[in-house]
Amino acid sequence: MNVVTIGTGYVGINTAAALAYIGHHVAGVDVDARKIAMLRERRAPISEAGLDALLASLQTIRFTTELSEVLGEADVVFIAVGTPSRPDGQANLDYVYSAAAQIGAALSPARDVTIVVKSTVPVGVNGMIETRIREAVQTRGGDGTKLHFASNPEFLREGCALHDTFYPDRFVIGTRDDKAFQMLTELFAPILEQSFVPPASVPSPSPRPRPQCLHTDPISSEMVKYASNVFLALKISYANEIAGLCEKLGGNMADISRGMGMDRRIAPYFLQSGLGWGGSCFPKDSLALLSMARDYGYEMPIVEAAVHVNRRQLDRIVFKILDKLRVLPGKRIAVLGLSFKPNTDDVRNSPSVELAQELVRRGACVCVHDPAGLANARTIYKDDGFLFCDTPAEAAKNADALVIATDWADYRALDWSAIRRLMRGACLFDARNLLRDTMVKNPHLLDGFEYQGL
Ligand code: UGA
Repeated sequence: MNVVTIGTGYVGINTAAALAYIGHHVAGVDVDARKIAMLRERRAPISEAGLDALLASLQTIRFTTELSEVLGEADVVFIAVGTPSRPDGQANLDYVYSAAAQIGAALSPARDVTIVVKSTVPVGVNGMIETRIREAVQTRGGDGTKLHFASNPEFLREGCALHDTFYPDRFVIGTRDDKAFQMLTELFAPILEQSFVPPASVPSPSPRPRPQCLHTDPISSEMVKYASNVFLALKISYANEIAGLCEKLGGNMADISRGMGMDRRIAPYFLQSGLGWGGSCFPKDSLALLSMARDYGYEMPIVEAAVHVNRRQLDRIVFKILDKLRVLPGKRIAVLGLSFKPNTDDVRNSPSVELAQELVRRGACVCVHDPAGLANARTIYKDDGFLFCDTPAEAAKNADALVIATDWADYRALDWSAIRRLMRGACLFDARNLLRDTMVKNPHLLDGFEYQGL
């Protein structure tokens, strides 16, 4: 089939690459000329495992900034643009509606096209997109254009986005239109049936189950996305709340999470306590869900509490640091990790960055390191007063305290006694509990440190 994906962010580019790999002709469109130039050279604008190699191998994909150049032949059009937060928490739908307007203005007459929304949009927005595109096409005369609409939310995680696209747990289609449903199931058939040969750069898991498919109405489909993300966020906040109580009562949170996760109904994932959740999705989606609820005069105290607990994690670590170091002006603090989670170079909306910023605000000299996100951080946070360090050792040199802010495996493997010798002070704040097991099982590896988890 001929496919157009609008937006080449995490959702758009991974979807486009996967669809081209399974045999479709794909045109990726973005208003950002810099991204399109990179993609034309088969370089991914984001750092994702396997993406560069996959892009280099694809013959049936092309990229453009001009939607009108490629829309004419499209059988299926994906809207995969961003929906960032507005200051009041509402999702900003400017990009989504701009994509809809462009589609409405550029659709060729007498085409039969399925338009699919992959962007995370508040409940009801799929309906609004359909209305706007239909109206635009009618204004231009209609001319027998047949339009079909579906919501098809994306559940990929940054850092393993291609893996999640090729080997998803679930596939949700929200539509009342039989043709749209049929087009989507045909388009994704090799993925739904897991019948494709795995790309060399994205090996398949073993075993390789077929994704579960849910066919529902558009509103439920939109809500599955929000309800899932926010549920994961509140699962983490719950683990963080239990961890805080455990600190008072005694108890090993790693074991508690493990013990809880042994119950299949709870499952072991998203129970890791620490500095809390960040990134482009959980914070934005929890605020958007609360904003939707507010619009309807409905309270969501559980979601509000999850957001509150998440914010409190930052205060908890800051007060632990203050308890030990007392006044921060004149103190040097190493912060290891800036990305919002390990295995990504994405340092936006990162609790680790917020912590480093708060320490600077309180007068400390903050030396930061990240295994992958340093280049991005140097650009985005160049005026934030951080001292950027190329190695953990450089950050640790003469530090009064060291904070592990992102749970990169690289940090677990550090020679901690060498790090200790470089430091002026002994405080090690493990805001991700990365070394908790080491502390319990091999405490000699952390000799000389005053260790505190979160
Ligand atoms: C999240 C969801 O996991 C995806 O399913 C969804 O498609 C995506 O949002 C989206 O809406 O696009 P992502 O933001 O890439 O994916 O990150 P996650 O791996 O879910 O982690 C989110 C945050 O939770 C990170 O800051 C991470 O450090 C934190 N986290 C995660 C914990 O603090 N504890 C845990 O046990 C797990």
